[in-house]
Formats: sequence, structure tokens, C-alpha cells
Amino acid sequence: MDTRMDAVRKAVAHIQERTSVKPSVGLILGSGLGVLGDQIPGADAIDYADIPGFPVSTVEGHAGRLVFGELGGKQVVIMQGRFHYYEGYTMDEVVFPVRVMKLLGVESLVVTNAAGGVNTGFVPGDLMLITDHIKFFTDSPLRGHNIEELGPRFNDMSVAYTPELRTLAKQVAADAGVDVREGVYAHMPGPSFETPAEIRMLRTLGADAVGMSTVPEVITAAHAGMKVLGISAISNMAAGILDQPLNHDEVIETGRMVRDRFVGLVKAVVEAM
Ligand code: HPA
Repeated sequence: MDTRMDAVRKAVAHIQERTSVKPSVGLILGSGLGVLGDQIPGADAIDYADIPGFPVSTVEGHAGRLVFGELGGKQVVIMQGRFHYYEGYTMDEVVFPVRVMKLLGVESLVVTNAAGGVNTGFVPGDLMLITDHIKFFTDSPLRGHNIEELGPRFNDMSVAYTPELRTLAKQVAADAGVDVREGVYAHMPGPSFETPAEIRMLRTLGADAVGMSTVPEVITAAHAGMKVLGISAISNMAAGILDQPLNHDEVIETGRMVRDRFVGLVKAVVEAM
């Protein structure tokens, strides 16, 4: 038996003693989008700190709790605050909540983030459905002994971002009159924002957006056979595109600006799932 799965099972047992919600959809919400977790009437919220084995989040603007309840007629679990590799967590810690979700019965994962725009046709405030990703600067969360009960050693990544969920999201967005882009998300380790040369490289490689999250969780979800919808809010143009420095305040500020549109889209998509 894999000791990592022992820890996951302990966390799951603890959670199941505290909520009767049986989530089929999991949501991981990035900077500023955690508000969705505050909009679930009668939710059961469990602080990460109270769940055995759960890492505790350290980033400003990220609460740290799991919220269980009903959204759009679905039983959901919402991660309010995620774990980033740059915070110093191991990859196992970063993806621990995804494995917990899998064992709780989650079939579809909605992952959101704030990202820098690499595609020069984008503007801050754009929403981008993630079609695919690029990751080669960080370890895979699947490195090491494979957890056979979750998935195969060499898992397919050719449709990690489930096309049907993207089609659904596009329909829902069109019905609501919300513009969405599509593109490739490049994962960078951070915590520094990238250099202009790195951004030019990423563009040459086919990236449309860049960020420091999401990809470890998506790899883990794909390995475990979960469906995935990824959505980025473009919070700033990536380094070197505009003649201005980057800062985290801008990321938070644009997050606020797009929040209602973003949350509305996520809610409508979950309802349509
Ligand atoms: N780079 C990396 N991560 C980010 C950015 C960026 O420009 N904006 C928001 N998250």
C-alpha cells in the first residue's frame, strides 16, 4: 500500500465525518476567485488546518478551506486557496487535494487561475479556456513510485483538458454573452515573474498564457481519469510585452475586475455539466 494514499484516505475519512455532501465536481479557485466558495448556501466548510495531512496555504489573498455544498444543482467541493510549488511545497503536497477529491468521488475538476498574457492579441481581463499546457521546468507530480490504484505509470496527456467540457463552456459563455479565448497555458515555477526573454521563448514554443499553478493538479487529475476544465483570467500582459513592470497588485486588481464575469461563467458551466 502506498503511504501517500494512506494519508489521502485519512483526510477523506475525516472529511466524510464532517459533511454528507458527495461531490461529483471539484473546483480549484485561483487568486481572487475564492468568493465563489462564499456563495454556497448552507455549505459545510472545513479548514485545511483541521484536515489531517492537508498542507496549509500561505499566500495572501488565498483562504484555506474546503467548501462542500450545492452549486448549479451539483454536489461540489470547492478549494478556497491552492498550494503553489513556489511556496516550497513538494509536488506531492501541491496535488494532495486532487487525490482527496478523487477518492471523494469527484469526476470533473474545474481549475481556474490568474495568468500572464503571452499571446499579444490578448488583453488583461480576457478569459481563456485552456486547450493544452506546456510544462518542463518543474518535476512531474507523478515522479516516483506510481500509485497504480489511481492510474498508469505512463499516462496519456493528449486530451488532459476534456474537449467536451470546453465545448460546453464555449456554449454557456456564448449564451451569456461572455467572450472567451482559447489557448495553451505554460507552467513556470516562479516565484519571480518571467524575464522578457523567457516570455519570447514561451511564445515561440506556442504558449498563449503563463502562470505558476494549475498544471500539477491537471496532470494528477488526468492520471486519475478525471475530466478537466481549465480557465485562466489574463491578469496582466507577460513580461516585456508592455513597457511597464509587473507586480502582484496588478494580478489581484484585475482579478477583482473580472471576478463577477469569471464566477458567473464558472457557475453557469457547472450548472450545465
Ligand atoms: N507570469 C506568471 N504567473 C502569473 C503572471 C505572469 O505574468 N500573471 C499572473 N500569474
